[in-house]
Amino acid sequence: MIYLDNGATTFPKPQSVKLKVNESFNKYSANPGRSGHRLSLMAATEIYECRKSIKKLFNANSEDNVIFTLNCTMALNTVIFGMLKKGDHVVISSLEHNSVVRPLEYLKNKGVSYSVFDYSDDPDEIIDNVRSAIKPETKLCVCMHASNVFGFKFPIERICALCHFYGIKICIDAAQSAGVFPIDMQNSDFDFVCTSGHKGLYGPMGTGILLINNAELKPLLFGGTGTDSINTQQPDEPPERFESGTQNLNGIAGLRAGVDFVRKRGTMNIYKHEFFLAKHLYNELGKLPFVKLYNKNFEFKKTAPVLSFNIDEIHSEEVVRVLNNNGICVRGGLHCSPFAHKFMNTIDSGTVRVVPSIFSTRFEIDRLIYVIKNISPKLLAKR
Ligand code: ALA
Repeated sequence: MIYLDNGATTFPKPQSVKLKVNESFNKYSANPGRSGHRLSLMAATEIYECRKSIKKLFNANSEDNVIFTLNCTMALNTVIFGMLKKGDHVVISSLEHNSVVRPLEYLKNKGVSYSVFDYSDDPDEIIDNVRSAIKPETKLCVCMHASNVFGFKFPIERICALCHFYGIKICIDAAQSAGVFPIDMQNSDFDFVCTSGHKGLYGPMGTGILLINNAELKPLLFGGTGTDSINTQQPDEPPERFESGTQNLNGIAGLRAGVDFVRKRGTMNIYKHEFFLAKHLYNELGKLPFVKLYNKNFEFKKTAPVLSFNIDEIHSEEVVRVLNNNGICVRGGLHCSPFAHKFMNTIDSGTVRVVPSIFSTRFEIDRLIYVIKNISPKLLAKR
């Protein structure tokens, strides 16, 4: 089987991740921070070491500002529900995922409104679009670092500077970019960065991260934190403030190994490997008259290694089904991002999405190209 659905979750995981998860189950799968015994302390140490690794990867200002969540969706919900109140306004991009759109749609009934700014291939135009969407009551901007469907990269540092000029907080959805594009919490001054642990950070599913830069937030969950138990009020300080309930120790142990794997390989080396595979696919598919591509060009450092395409008018799910029958795993449909598809006029067909990982090879991409060339005449004839 050739796996090229790494935008949904990376597979396989590095050997070190599997070993670490196994080790945690075998040696210290106790409840971290809940008891004073040796195994509980070992578990708590593992979690702290993971925070340290994440702090280093993203140059966060403190381990305490590294919050563990279950996934990127939970991290985004923590920011959205933790910050906004009646009368507030939010600006979001035209490519946002349902993990941003759905909470904001829910909050419409609570008096929170939002406006959408369009993506453009011209970064100056994006900045103008953000500026036009801002209102006096805008409190927050939520923007993807890179589209999970089309790989388009936003000029997030410039968007951040613009938002801060107007006193607006910014939250970056780095689900498709963490581990692929550099993210520097201290130099960029982002208020919040949300990401999953199971994609470009090579951790297990059920892990996510919220990075905060001294911004005030209400917690999403209230409950036991293993600290100050006499106090019936939620702790004020991160990370405990945002981490109620038993942590996913085994997932976090694996995530630490994943983050260390990324730090060792180097984000730029990983990006180069994946980008040039995606670019090769882009170039080759561009030669096929029946293939529709959506990126005008596929430029280094401006595009995440995420490539969407369609075979003429054939529904993407049908193409995915046939590719699966030929031993290739990719994702079709809307990728939980109907906004992006409406914006790109692909809402009816969805797109076939290919996302390589550091373990993907040129051979696998060539095989995909060969299979696409082979299956397309049959699919087109059936229409
Ligand atoms: N949001 C993930 C994706 O893009 C799961 O596939």
